[in-house]
Amino acid sequence: MANSPSGDSAVDRVVRVLDTFTADRTVQTASEIGRRAGLPSSTAHRIVDGLVHSGLLERDDANRIRLGMRLWELALRGSHALRLRQAALPSMETVQARVREHTQLAVLEHDEALFLERLSHPDAGANITRIAGRLPLHASSSGLVLLAYAENEVRERVLARPLRALSADTVTDPDSLRRLLAGIRQRGHVVAPGSIETVSTGVAVPVRQNGAVIAALSVVLPRDAPTIDALTTLMAAARRVQKALNRSRD
Ligand code: PHB
Repeated sequence: MANSPSGDSAVDRVVRVLDTFTADRTVQTASEIGRRAGLPSSTAHRIVDGLVHSGLLERDDANRIRLGMRLWELALRGSHALRLRQAALPSMETVQARVREHTQLAVLEHDEALFLERLSHPDAGANITRIAGRLPLHASSSGLVLLAYAENEVRERVLARPLRALSADTVTDPDSLRRLLAGIRQRGHVVAPGSIETVSTGVAVPVRQNGAVIAALSVVLPRDAPTIDALTTLMAAARRVQKALNRSRD
């Protein structure tokens, strides 16, 4: 693969172009993409043209660029995340019907919690989670569960970084976090009031496959709502997801 004078490969440059798209920035001009990807304008335009040609990017009538449906199609084809989401969805709907707030499914991905699905009630309270969006492991309830059961190496890497407080209640001190994570492993769940937003409480449980935690199932409740019912509902749902995952392997 041809390398540029700066040493990055053609694949690196394509990934940099695709990485300029975020949950908040879904449409850009080719020049903006080039600037954000740190690429010379001619290189950016050439890569964008190629990706539009192959359908991985799409151009609208105003000549602005967005991610293409073909990218979505390819990403979901045979995807482990899709299989997990499909196995979890019926149980998430049961949680949602009972708790009537927000129900979410997240996995650990590159030291963050990546949300594969979110179901919300029309009258539900605040929630900053987005599908295909990410939240910090140390601040979200799903992230805390994923971090609690992550490999030691991942946990230590995350705890060694400066951890940002997203609210007054985010635990950022590594020793306090270590204690919190040990408590999560002991109890098998977390209740995280105000950890990410002062107005909400996240409640999360692990989802296991062959004994290993592969995801977190969570609900986001108004800060002072009772959590017991949500917790027992989540735990029963996690067991059903585990059974569905085992069945889907057959
Ligand atoms: C959480 O998982 O703890 C959480 C996520 C999103 C929110 C609030 C809490 O908006």
